[in-house]
Amino acid sequence: MNNKERFKDKVVIVTGASSGIGKASALEFAREGAKTVLVSRSAEKLERVADEIRGFNPSVLVVPTDITLRGQVHEMVEEVLSQFGRIDVLFNNAGSSYVGRIEDENFIENTKKMIDVDYFGTVYTTKEVLAVMQKQGSGHIMNMSSVVGRKAFPHFGGYSSAMHAISAFTDSLRQELSGSGINVSIIHPALTRTPLLDHVRPEDMPPPFRGMTPISVESVAKAVVNGVYYNHARIIVPFQPKLLLLADAISPRIGDIIVKLLSNKVFSRLLGTYHGKLYHEIKY
Ligand SMILES: NC(=O)c1ccc[n+]([C@@H]2O[C@H](COP(=O)([O-])OP(=O)(O)OC[C@H]3O[C@@H](n4cnc5c(N)ncnc54)[C@H](OP(=O)(O)O)[C@@H]3O)[C@@H](O)[C@H]2O)c1
Repeated sequence: MNNKERFKDKVVIVTGASSGIGKASALEFAREGAKTVLVSRSAEKLERVADEIRGFNPSVLVVPTDITLRGQVHEMVEEVLSQFGRIDVLFNNAGSSYVGRIEDENFIENTKKMIDVDYFGTVYTTKEVLAVMQKQGSGHIMNMSSVVGRKAFPHFGGYSSAMHAISAFTDSLRQELSGSGINVSIIHPALTRTPLLDHVRPEDMPPPFRGMTPISVESVAKAVVNGVYYNHARIIVPFQPKLLLLADAISPRIGDIIVKLLSNKVFSRLLGTYHGKLYHEIKY
């Protein structure tokens, strides 16, 4: 086991732990000594992640759950309590993503799906876990958003809306819980190599992603674990999007220009967001 063990015996729930950022984060928490609870719909995929974790940490629990169903979320929390007796960290990470413009036939339907999974899934899980943390008088809730949860990208209006909703919910929650012993954080990663956008053809990608090399799930997972440990309120990974958000705060038109330039590989290379490979050229 990792000799850092900053989360030794802490009970950590990770939603969306079967894949991508959630899987990498569950592995990272487990390496740090946590008792991890793996949540997503696919029992089979979760078992594979659990087997990987059991190779170095025996305390792992698989609870297949659809986070859009409040009854299942309630049962998941009950199971965690009966197995581990408490909940120290909740990482609300599970999510879905669709690319598209308002003119697209499926825009409204897809946006509703994202609001249902990404936003309401986060809210349902938070509500159930918060009741437990309030009884304990301690805990940490980390919510997943995205850089586009602070500055929307074109062709990504529905997803950006769901991510903005999570940002606003988290901002409010952090202030409501101030002084309660329960900490609240949010992470806004840039484009990350996971299966999330595998169904999108390269030419249909939101334009800024066409000039950007995705970051690794491991870098996001490390930021999540450090963010909880140091109680960072808002985490943006890597550092470059901070420049975009700063420029956008001064003027949305400057922000729009930077977003437009991101699709240009020369600009993106200068900024350090293009390293020679695009999303579809890197295997997850
Ligand atoms: N990849 C990026 O570029 C990027 C950037 C910023 C933020 N994010 C955010 O990071 C989060 C993780 O995404 P990822 O990129 O790691 O994608 P991913 O590999 O596709 O993982 C998504 C996870 O969510 C789970 N999930 C989906 N719907 C669910 C539901 N109804 N109930 C329970 N679990 C559900 C999936 O598991 P099952 O299929 O087993 O249910 C899977 O484990 C998402 O919220 C995404 O918006 C991603």
